[in-house]
Amino acid sequence: MLNENYSLKNLNTFGIDCYARWFAEYSSADELREIVGTDLYRNSPSMLIGRGSNLLFITDFEGVVLHSAMRAVKLIGHDKSSVMLEVGSGVLWDELVEHCVRNGWWGIENLSLIPGEAGAAAVQNIGAYGVELCDVLESVKVLDLSTGQEISLSVEDCGYGYRKSIFKTSARNQFAILSVRLRLSRQPRPCFKYPHLEEEVLKRGEVDLATIRRTIIEIRTAKLPDPEVLGNAGSFFMNPLVSASKLEKLQKVFPAIPNYPADNQQVKIPAAWLIDQCGWKGKSMGKAGVYEQQPLVLVNQGGATGKEIAELAAAIQTTVANQFDISLVPEVNYIG
Ligand code: EPU
Repeated sequence: MLNENYSLKNLNTFGIDCYARWFAEYSSADELREIVGTDLYRNSPSMLIGRGSNLLFITDFEGVVLHSAMRAVKLIGHDKSSVMLEVGSGVLWDELVEHCVRNGWWGIENLSLIPGEAGAAAVQNIGAYGVELCDVLESVKVLDLSTGQEISLSVEDCGYGYRKSIFKTSARNQFAILSVRLRLSRQPRPCFKYPHLEEEVLKRGEVDLATIRRTIIEIRTAKLPDPEVLGNAGSFFMNPLVSASKLEKLQKVFPAIPNYPADNQQVKIPAAWLIDQCGWKGKSMGKAGVYEQQPLVLVNQGGATGKEIAELAAAIQTTVANQFDISLVPEVNYIG
């Protein structure tokens, strides 16, 4: 059941060569309960991993790494206007999107091609092109790792915000996600909030699910490197939120600073722009690089260590702080 000294190279999209002291997969709540009941688990540090599309291993993990192999997608309800799906935490996210697009279910097509699995998607509240997972999420079934109890959390219980949830904050390491319930629409419901998306879709065809998915895939692949080819974890930092008064101050010095309204009267500034202005685009430090087409993405140019990537990230944070007085917060979780 538990594998010793297990390579995580294929379980982190940065492709960092690192190991878990112990590794275990579970395909049901009962199997997971059994693992977390062992002395080895109780006496070791532990972590849950999806496809590692948002992780940076600085060191090996000297404990138990758990991975979900719960891969069922069940249609558990439907009416004229919507369907309700229960999706196992180990389902590959983009395979789910493809399945939904094929069946004519609207809601997650803008989240096409996001790497990772459904459980991690609910931890991170993945978002892209105007849609966030919490927009279609009904509830999350979890196993409480200290009591072994199964609990259903409503979307409100999960405390979702921009790349935020209780699974990353107050309930960090408390729960393992078993499955997520999504409500998707059977009626066309395109989301064209992202600038120029509608235009891009119309250039390619009709406003239908297949064309929207194809458009998103083309936009993403033009901007973001394929982790199979160049190790990366998508956006390395979150887009910073600043107050309106802070924006006003910045605009006096940088009149072209792009910004978008966000919640609580704050504004979001694209971290990519800040990093670009500091001259980091295409630069590298050792084997860690800043992607030429999208400077918010840090890449493993081949054989980089987690430490090298973290050093590049720290250097970027320092220059952005010095030039703009803004601290960039990593979206990627550091391990070690
Ligand atoms: N920009 C530059 N220089 C560049 C590239 C971009 O200045 O070389 C600026 C431009 O002002 C551009 C802006 O950055 O308008 C925004 O760029 P983009 O639309 O590509 O999106 P982003 O803000 O960089 C966010 C998400 C992505 C998501 C896209 C699309 C975060 C941290 N990132 O990126 O999510 O795919 O929007 O919705 O919120 C991820 O989280 O891993 C991820 C890829």
